[in-house]
Amino acid sequence: MKITSAAFHISVSALSGLPEESTPEIVFAGRSNVGKSTLLNSLTGLKALAKTSSTPGKTRLINYFLINQEFYFVDLPGYGYAAVGQEQKAAWGHLLSSYIEERQSISLVVLLFDSRHPAMESDRAMINFLEFHERPYGIVLTKFDKLTQKEMAKTRRIMESCAAKAKFIVNYSSFSGKGKSELLAHLDHYIR
Ligand code: GTP
Ligand code: MG
Repeated sequence: MKITSAAFHISVSALSGLPEESTPEIVFAGRSNVGKSTLLNSLTGLKALAKTSSTPGKTRLINYFLINQEFYFVDLPGYGYAAVGQEQKAAWGHLLSSYIEERQSISLVVLLFDSRHPAMESDRAMINFLEFHERPYGIVLTKFDKLTQKEMAKTRRIMESCAAKAKFIVNYSSFSGKGKSELLAHLDHYIR
């Protein structure tokens, strides 16, 4: 796949505000600060498309980006962010789980894990949730530039054992662009 155009479409805070389900959407999910928004900027080649931050909890709404005029990339708020109150956490959890459970136009969920801390409790719960609802998902191991060779091999081993149904596992660095063409080739299968 080649991305020829990418533009912000809409931000929503409730399921009632979502766009019509006639356009396929590829959703990017993962713990707070794992690098979802940065990955979207890296994939589209537009540095400021999605807002990023070194402080977790930057993305607070469901953000839609229209790609090539034919499908959406969806940037989700992160899960597992400890610094928000319990009430807010529960509200986000509910929004995200209902969205993934009910949204008909989702063609793929791309689950991002930090290469340095793969498969934490909340990540395993997310995998179970996706498998239970029979949602196709692929895994991206982010911030791969931070790993030593030895850590890379260990991270891959852990992932392969706990995400048996993943359509793909891609090692990624938004800083170096490593994994970009591999990931785009996988995504190609889910846009029509
Ligand atoms: P929330 O919106 O809070 O859920 O976070 P997010 O998952 O969207 O993370 P975001 O893209 O805002 O990035 C978080 C931090 O990780 C930023 O400081 C990024 O610069 C950094 N980061 C993202 N991708 C990479 C990467 O590939 N390598 C390295 N070294 N750092 C990265
Ligand atoms: Mg974000």
